[in-house]
Amino acid sequence: MDKKILDTLKTYAKNSYSPYSKYKVVAMLFCGSGDVYMGVNVENASYSVTMCAERSALFSAVSNGERKFEGIIIYSPSKVMPYPCGACLQALSEFAGRDFMVTVANDREEISANFKEFFPRSFKL
Ligand code: THU
Repeated sequence: MDKKILDTLKTYAKNSYSPYSKYKVVAMLFCGSGDVYMGVNVENASYSVTMCAERSALFSAVSNGERKFEGIIIYSPSKVMPYPCGACLQALSEFAGRDFMVTVANDREEISANFKEFFPRSFKL
């Protein structure tokens, strides 16, 4: 990926609050407006209260009036790939259009695919 983007992801990885898992995740969400929102995972001593990086970025963007999204990059400076969890996929599916792209990367590999490939059947009302 672009070096500037990778540098930004690495910088934000320092903001991940993950004292329990020691697993840092950063999400970079590209909006239709052209703005970009960052999110990190924020853990809690009551483990289930933890918020993933993807939803941190999504909720921040929506809170700022964004409704259209072009793609998301999810990065972890780790050997483990930060594939988005089911809860984040469902949250993203609320806003993901047909062209919404997902890139998952660590320091070894990077994969990109359409959101539909990650989450073919989302729940919608
Ligand atoms: N996590 C994320 O933030 N996003 C992912 O894509 C996978 C998992 C976080 C949640 C928790 O803080 C840590 O990674 C370990 O599960």
